[in-house]
Amino acid sequence: MSLVILISGRGSNMQAILEAGVPVSAVISNRPDAAGLEIAARHGVKTAVVEHRSFADRESFDAALARQIDLHAPVAVALAGFMRILTPGFVARYAGRLVNIHPSLLPAYTGLDTHGRALAAGVKLHGCTVHFVTAELDHGPIIAQAAVPVLQGDTPDSLAARVLAQEHVVYPRALRWLLAGRLRIVDGRVRLDGATGADAALVSPDDD
Ligand code: GRF
Repeated sequence: MSLVILISGRGSNMQAILEAGVPVSAVISNRPDAAGLEIAARHGVKTAVVEHRSFADRESFDAALARQIDLHAPVAVALAGFMRILTPGFVARYAGRLVNIHPSLLPAYTGLDTHGRALAAGVKLHGCTVHFVTAELDHGPIIAQAAVPVLQGDTPDSLAARVLAQEHVVYPRALRWLLAGRLRIVDGRVRLDGATGADAALVSPDDD
């Protein structure tokens, strides 16, 4: 009953998942220089690199990635700062057990530069979302969200740091639910079995 985590870089979400004690059988990166690989190794977790540059197209990269993942027969696959768009075939192969964390309150701000775009729009709340992955980028059923206030004088970096601290709380929590079999997708929405109150919404005021 464990996870495979896919990363491309820093790996702070991966680290939070490992430190929360969520069972992880392997961490796979598409970049050999991803800092997260070393962190995973320090935690005694197996690592592998499937370099996207070595493949002619997305289909062959995704096929190699799936082979590497399936060696570990994971219950679920967690994207944690994995910066590749996955093919519909890959997404279908792991349907219902492929999850991602995105640094915005979806459906707002899909894609990149979410913090800069939130600041430009003048929103007062921003946050992060754990969601099931579907073929459409950053659009799958929402498992959990955490919100933070946007403060006067915030920069994209200060806002990103406030959101990231919440990512590190909400992602391990959502993955525990997934591994415990508590999540069901009903009519495109996520049901959490045994939920009490606002379990899947974490609002974290920050009085910086
Ligand atoms: C996080 O902000 C995550 O929401 C986004 O990419 C970033 C990855 O950071 N998908 P890290 O590698 O987990 O530190």
